[in-house]
Amino acid sequence: PKRVRVHHLRQAKERGEPLTMLTAYDGVSARIFDEAGIDMLLIGDSIGNAMHGHETTIPVTVEEMLPAVRAVSLAARRALVVADLPFGSYEASPQQCLATAVRMVKEGGAHAVKFEGGAHLAQHVQLLTRSGIPVVGHLGFTPQAENILGGKRVQGRGNEAAEHLVADAMALAEAGAVAVVLEMIPAPVADRITEVVPIPTIGIGAGPGCDGQVLVWIDMAGMASWSPRFARRFGEVGAELYRAAREYGTAVRERTFPGPEETFEQ
Ligand code: KIV
Ligand code: NA
Repeated sequence: PKRVRVHHLRQAKERGEPLTMLTAYDGVSARIFDEAGIDMLLIGDSIGNAMHGHETTIPVTVEEMLPAVRAVSLAARRALVVADLPFGSYEASPQQCLATAVRMVKEGGAHAVKFEGGAHLAQHVQLLTRSGIPVVGHLGFTPQAENILGGKRVQGRGNEAAEHLVADAMALAEAGAVAVVLEMIPAPVADRITEVVPIPTIGIGAGPGCDGQVLVWIDMAGMASWSPRFARRFGEVGAELYRAAREYGTAVRERTFPGPEETFEQ
């Protein structure tokens, strides 16, 4: 399959072809999503709460991200692989940001990185872009900032906040960002950003008007014990996995597994 590249993102926006993105944290799921034709695989810092038992994304480290980034990159044959930069690994300076991004690309094999924030990070985006690393922005509800945002809340309500988001998205695009994730903002605000910025908007809780959509895969597949309102369950993989584990347990206890077919003779 032909690799999805950054110029395909802008092309998709121009043609009005929706872009698909899912998170992935390991090679097993990444291979399945890649074969299913998902355009972009994101090793989200949501690995912290989705996979590693943390409550939020805040404790996630670069060391924790790298093995996941490597596994997804090795498994993805078509998808564009995007690695999140975790909290505390990029904010201090464009140089800090570049150093972390280089690790994601060089050690992890990612094709692009994503980090949270607007106009104040324009120079970060510029330095990475000039250094050969495509950047995906992330605006609206940015989970790494939940302590200052006052919890998981819709952002960009009201004219002033909405205009602020538009300006942030524009600043990221002008700095060279190749796409921008819009999380938990009113649909009309996402529509407005999608209309005015030249790069694709990838929505999550941002309505159907974005140029693409992203979901955390454990929400998408029905693996999570709780999911936000904006996440639709497209499957019941959790229930199926539970069923398989129960049946395996029963078969071992009843000595019906392994059977003759699964056993070596002398
Ligand atoms: O970490 C993550 O999964 C994300 C997506 C929700 C966009 O940032
Ligand atoms: Na994230």
